Amino acid sequence: MTKISPSMLASDFSELTSEIRKIEKAGADWVHLDVMDGIFVPNITFGAPVIKPLRKKTELVFDVHLMIVDPIRYIKDFVDAGADIITFHYESCEDPEAVIDLIHSYGKRAGLAIKPNTEAEAVKPFIDKLDMILVMTVEPGYGGQSLIEHTIDKIAVCSQMIKDSGRDIELQADGGIYAENVKRLLDAGLTVVVAGSAVFKSEDPAKTVGLLRVGL
Ligand code: DX5
Ligand code: ZN
Repeated sequence: MTKISPSMLASDFSELTSEIRKIEKAGADWVHLDVMDGIFVPNITFGAPVIKPLRKKTELVFDVHLMIVDPIRYIKDFVDAGADIITFHYESCEDPEAVIDLIHSYGKRAGLAIKPNTEAEAVKPFIDKLDMILVMTVEPGYGGQSLIEHTIDKIAVCSQMIKDSGRDIELQADGGIYAENVKRLLDAGLTVVVAGSAVFKSEDPAKTVGLLRVGL
């Protein structure tokens, strides 16, 4: 079944524990944690010191999305903070394979993210090692943006690439996803839906999480 990973970026940062409780009750599978450094993307959010205390509060899978330059410097910090899956950007480093290997050396799952204007083919050299591909459906940096249409084609291309590899690789999309537009992404082969505003601004998060799994 499709997994739902609500992005805490859209939550109330003064109430992180109760916000996590809210998505647990809503039936979320993972929790998506957006780490931004103000350099790779224009915005700054939070880092490992904020994630670590949350690890004691929930059993949800910690899906950490690193939007930082040279992510290899901080992999151990996020492992120690309780990350289960660490996704970093293809555009953020010289040697993605070294980052994947380092994440795996700690027994964690590795994801590779591509920005809207990066070709799907960029992930291909790493397909034998990856546990997840993240196709950004908005420019990384901010929540609440509109989904960029042309990124949907890349989801289909990545889905085929995963099928051809014969490996069990999750396919995630992130940004501007709502019950109203998720169907086309699911049809293209998406397996993990990230949704910030859709879940946290919903009056009925459980209903929204249910709808995000199947689309309207
Ligand atoms: C954007 C982040 C997303 C964002 C999604 O850079 O990676 O995870 O929080 O938020 P919505 O669902 O509101 O577009
Ligand atoms: Zn994200």
